[in-house]
Amino acid sequence: MTGSVLSRIPLPVSWTEDGSAIRLLDQTLLPGEERYLRLETVEAVAEAIRSLRVRGAPAIGIAAAFGLAIGVMRRVEAGEPDLPDGMEKDRKHLLSTRPTAVNLAWALERVAGAFFRAEEGPQARVAAVTEEANRVAEEDRELCRLMGEHGLDVIPEEGASILTHCNAGALATGGMGTALAPIYAATARGIPVKVFADETRPLLQGARLTSWELSRAGVEVTVITDSMAGALMKAGGVNLVITGTDRVAANGDVANKIGTYGVAVLAREHGIPFYVASPRSTFDPRAKSGAEIPIEERDGGEIRGEGERRIVPPEVQVWNPAFDVTPAHLVTAFITDGGILRPPYDVAIARLLESDAPSG
Ligand code: MRU
Repeated sequence: MTGSVLSRIPLPVSWTEDGSAIRLLDQTLLPGEERYLRLETVEAVAEAIRSLRVRGAPAIGIAAAFGLAIGVMRRVEAGEPDLPDGMEKDRKHLLSTRPTAVNLAWALERVAGAFFRAEEGPQARVAAVTEEANRVAEEDRELCRLMGEHGLDVIPEEGASILTHCNAGALATGGMGTALAPIYAATARGIPVKVFADETRPLLQGARLTSWELSRAGVEVTVITDSMAGALMKAGGVNLVITGTDRVAANGDVANKIGTYGVAVLAREHGIPFYVASPRSTFDPRAKSGAEIPIEERDGGEIRGEGERRIVPPEVQVWNPAFDVTPAHLVTAFITDGGILRPPYDVAIARLLESDAPSG
């Protein structure tokens, strides 16, 4: 049933029909144009990740997994003698594209692991990395579905009005999204849900992408500028917040799109529950707290203006961190593929990561 709600939203990353290249929706062009790119090299995939043609933690992981597989394919076609060395170079190249989403390193580790476990012949290596990359994508679809199911527990049967920040929907994953998954699951069951999408300066993932996919799926959505969230809460316009995340530390601190922290503070002030939807692939037990999560800083040009339109005088400095960290104490609960996690988060997260992962 959820499938029919989602049938009009394209997969952000897939193989081309002949399996020789990656088909990638260029999200920088949405909502104006729905254009698919054919990516044939590791460099092209790295560029697509760096420039946010594909974005959102799980989708970045899937693109990188496919990209590493493409790299092995190309090296085998070229008859390269030292495949392990070439694969390591490609892995590092892809890893360097964006630092915050832990799904990138996680997915690359999985595909590299499959490469080293495979039998030595080149064709066996290609088959192993391709299969593992496909598994990463298929499992993500299932993780999203499960987050949708579990997330229903936090959505009121009547009058649900949900604020979200950035895009943590189908466009950011291999399935129905993370933060948007419970919204799609509710819609599929006939539970009425209204969504407010923060526009999400500076790259406008909320205004451009969240609104696009929700309206395509028939979900009522209203876009607000980031600075309107407090006024909306004060006016009683939302009864819960759900965001996605790029990395959750072992203690429950959450890195997500810049502005998420402000939304969490506002939600606490107004007594509104603040939920974070996260698949197990986005928890990073190696980071003890948010202080250990690397925060990407992007080019100031993203703030200075768009196209011909200049907003900031050229002589003035700008600061452009792409993410911020919301401390665990502001998170009401995590919506995960393994259920709803409540404090103490160190215990709940460790238990989730010890449990068996669902297969795709
Ligand atoms: O810079 P982006 O667009 O990749 O940032 C995306 C986000 O912050 C999402 O909320 C997060 O990756 C979760 S996506 C399911």
